[in-house]
Amino acid sequence: MRTLAVVGGGVIGLSVAWRAAAAGWSVTLFDPAAGTGASWVAGGMLAPLSEGWPGEDEPLEFGAATLARWPDFAARLHAETDVSVFVADETLTVALDGADAADLRTIADFVAARGHEMRLLDRRGVRAAEPDLARTVRAGLLSPTEPAVDNRLLVAALRRCCAQAGVDIRAESVAAVDDCAQDQIVLAAGAATARLWPGLPVHPVKGEILRLRHRPGAPPPPRRVIRARVHGRPLYLVPRAHGIVVGATQYEAGFDTAVTVAGVRDLIADAEAVLPALGEYELQETAAGARPGTPDNLPLIGRLSDRVIVAAGHGRNGILGVPLTADAVLALLGGDVLPEAKAADPQRFSRESGGRDDASA
Ligand code: GLY
Repeated sequence: MRTLAVVGGGVIGLSVAWRAAAAGWSVTLFDPAAGTGASWVAGGMLAPLSEGWPGEDEPLEFGAATLARWPDFAARLHAETDVSVFVADETLTVALDGADAADLRTIADFVAARGHEMRLLDRRGVRAAEPDLARTVRAGLLSPTEPAVDNRLLVAALRRCCAQAGVDIRAESVAAVDDCAQDQIVLAAGAATARLWPGLPVHPVKGEILRLRHRPGAPPPPRRVIRARVHGRPLYLVPRAHGIVVGATQYEAGFDTAVTVAGVRDLIADAEAVLPALGEYELQETAAGARPGTPDNLPLIGRLSDRVIVAAGHGRNGILGVPLTADAVLALLGGDVLPEAKAADPQRFSRESGGRDDASA
């Protein structure tokens, strides 16, 4: 049996490990604390269309391709674990002023020209859909095909799938690629992946979130994912079974994952501007993670050498990227390249810069 090392136990590493083990590989996954990094902090939105913007065609195409694979992936996960990970079916982006409303039209036109349907709502339409949103909301963009998942249920379900498929999860770190004796190695260590492959263009982008618990008497969580821009800062409210995840700050701070007072203050203020009753919820948890950012907002999925494959750099969209990334890595292990993942080939950067020898295999 061929052997595979997966370095990194976030949702990307766990899903690759599961799928490879199910396909007949003998898989060892290395992570000192699997499932506790950015995957644990995530909002769980699957919303590439709502993040669409003119000029960003490749991230939209990649995102739409992985979104299309989510129903099958979730069905497979459910069949293995009996866990249903979806927490919302739709996404509603709201506008608080005229500039925001113009941006919603820009997004709607951009994605419509690429075959994706979203629906512009006026003030009354937004109110009818989500009655507890602030009266100051003046327009909305409804995306009926963008759901959200509970990231923590997903991590737990993937761990179970790995266990059932025989993946050996070791609570160990890997200091260097050459320490792995397996036939093939997948680097899926998120923002830390460049430590294992110096020069790889992936870097940490800090994000802070709040987890709020619903309290008796408070209005229920929104039915959909609610997205907005408040004072220029992106905001999202993602429903959970008993509350809401509020996210997220975004800034460069290295691998620092301390939650700052300013981050919490801004998230609460911005969230209350969209959902005024939010102050009645319990502040259950604050958390911060390091997203794995890349220069062009596309992940890095491809071969670095005859033995090493990278699956990292998913930025704000790691949960979204799971199904396509797992399929793409399985294809690479079998000697194929998945057409939908071609844009994520890490060689795109080495082609631009002249490249390093060992990244050109
Ligand atoms: N997944 C959303 C974020 O990274 O903020």
